[in-house]
Amino acid sequence: MKVTVKILRYDPEKDQRPHYQTYQVDAEPTDWVLDLLERIKGDQDGSLSFRRSCAHGICGSDAMRINGMNRLACKTLLQDLHSHTIVVEPLLGLPIIKDLVVDMEPFFDHYKSVMPYLVNDEQAPMRERLQSPAERERFDDTTKCILCAACTTSCPSFWANGDYIGPAAIVNAHRFIFDSRDRASSERLRILNGQFGVFRCHTIFNCTQACPREIQITKAIGEVKKAIATGNLD
Ligand code: SF4
Ligand code: F3S
Ligand code: FES
Repeated sequence: MKVTVKILRYDPEKDQRPHYQTYQVDAEPTDWVLDLLERIKGDQDGSLSFRRSCAHGICGSDAMRINGMNRLACKTLLQDLHSHTIVVEPLLGLPIIKDLVVDMEPFFDHYKSVMPYLVNDEQAPMRERLQSPAERERFDDTTKCILCAACTTSCPSFWANGDYIGPAAIVNAHRFIFDSRDRASSERLRILNGQFGVFRCHTIFNCTQACPREIQITKAIGEVKKAIATGNLD
């Protein structure tokens, strides 16, 4: 079948502003949107820019807006879009570098600000730092993040103010705040209680709907808010 792929294009060296460009592509219902982009770039227009690496939903590099929703191009089947017209746009809220490639630096700055690594200066035990299955389960969901930015760039609070730390950073803080081996939870909660921290979240749920890993992001944010409000990590 033929599908129409309408892509928001922008080359800062040539264009005053972004504009749509339309391509007709031969496709199968079982094609991924990434397949269509590869076909356009390979057969019709080598100047089209987008990020991709693994093509299997692991690296998180090809998040983009597809028919108005943030998704991974490599995990979006044409047949699931129920349309012969596909509109592809870069993520909202981050500066466009070129076409579908956005500047991820502001996103990673927020991520880095929550200390997304294990902090424990105590004497290391002879063997590993033990943790019960229940303690491990406490933060299991938030270990699944692939840092694709689909959540943060679908959040109206982030669109309104890019200083908001955003759901992805909170998810990655949650992963360590509730880890029984970590000793920097208070520091992370202090950061997240700041002016642009977790209370900028108004429970809009776009982030949870956008997450390709199906992480219960709004729930995790709620748990962080509660830990700040009550001062305990139960
Ligand atoms: Fe992507 Fe989900 Fe991680 Fe957000 S929480 S960056 S949507 S994987
Ligand atoms: Fe934004 Fe998600 Fe909160 S969409 S407002 S971070 S629930
Ligand atoms: Fe790696 Fe899509 S290309 S997640």
